[in-house]
Amino acid sequence: MIILGFESSCDETGVALVELRDGARPRLLAEALHSQAAMHADYGGVVPELASRDHIRRVLPLTRQVLARAGIALAQVDLVAYTRGPGLAGALLVGAGVAVALAAALDRPALGVHHLEGHLLSPFLGAEVPQFPFVALLVSGGHTQLMDVRAVGDYRLLGETIDDAAGEAFDKSAKLLGLGYPGGPALARLAAFGDPEAYALPRPLLHQPNLDFSFAGLKTAVMTQVRKRGTNVCEQSRADLAASTQAAIVDVLVAKSVKALEASGTRRLVVAGGVGANRLLRERLDAAAARCGATVHYPPLELCTDNGAMIAIAAALRVRQGIAKPQRDGAFDVRPRWPLAELSSAGDRA
Ligand code: KG4
Ligand code: ZN
Repeated sequence: MIILGFESSCDETGVALVELRDGARPRLLAEALHSQAAMHADYGGVVPELASRDHIRRVLPLTRQVLARAGIALAQVDLVAYTRGPGLAGALLVGAGVAVALAAALDRPALGVHHLEGHLLSPFLGAEVPQFPFVALLVSGGHTQLMDVRAVGDYRLLGETIDDAAGEAFDKSAKLLGLGYPGGPALARLAAFGDPEAYALPRPLLHQPNLDFSFAGLKTAVMTQVRKRGTNVCEQSRADLAASTQAAIVDVLVAKSVKALEASGTRRLVVAGGVGANRLLRERLDAAAARCGATVHYPPLELCTDNGAMIAIAAALRVRQGIAKPQRDGAFDVRPRWPLAELSSAGDRA
């Protein structure tokens, strides 16, 4: 089965071709991505209307690129997958509209996929395919969740953030440090030159027995430090504050992931979402997992942030599992707000 996947839920237009054959590892045939980060940077965050318009401009040229790179003709595509939600309504409608129209023109089925399920299943495109069951740490710009994953489509929420997401904490702290948007990677780069113990920043809910997170207080603490030091803060202090912020976020993510492994009784952790690209998080999770005899799986680095391949693989695995109902009627909808827990194995058009 060859799946063409479209991702357009936020500020990245992603298109990819994935091949899934019985008894073989899923294979990424080609992918192309356009990030709108530079376009939104002037505004300090994503402007929804600009995002939708840019998806329209990019989606077909990217599709042509992907087909050419893979040496695949449109007629060879068996299934067209798109992000149905959650995300920006207008942005989602672009990907969904193109995918469903293309599927209708090709007389192929189309399938809407949950964006977080895409992140969750993206490690299946990595070198080592994780075995079920596992605990998933989903850390993106909009979500921070720990899930107990029993099978494709069988997800139980163990804990989540009660306010800001981990990526949001990176982005907002980066903005306070004058690092622009999106700030996560920039903050991580600056942190490499700083002392992570220079500032005692809060680690909210760290010692609570539950598996929930809270990052809003951290942003306030960073703001207080920035204000205290004024605009003439030296480069070393900025690096120290970046390192201390990163350490606070990573400490909490690692501690709660270990607790989640204990709670679920499994020895496998899968990390997905943009913050999963963070090097310190990877090092600390690997070390913590080694101590408790667990293994950690990551998606390939380039598939941590939003992309079309994760949408294609999620659709492929749902279809193979027999829990998806691809559409052939040309109708579609999007779900800008769509809790992952609502994804039941009963079907996709709930
Ligand atoms: O999964 P993703 O691409 O988009 C959402 O679905 O939200 O995640 C984007 C988030 C942003 O907050 C970005 O700052 C963060 O992931 N991020 C990082 C790193 N790379 C991306 N945060 C920390 N360190 C990184 N290396
Ligand atoms: Zn995402």
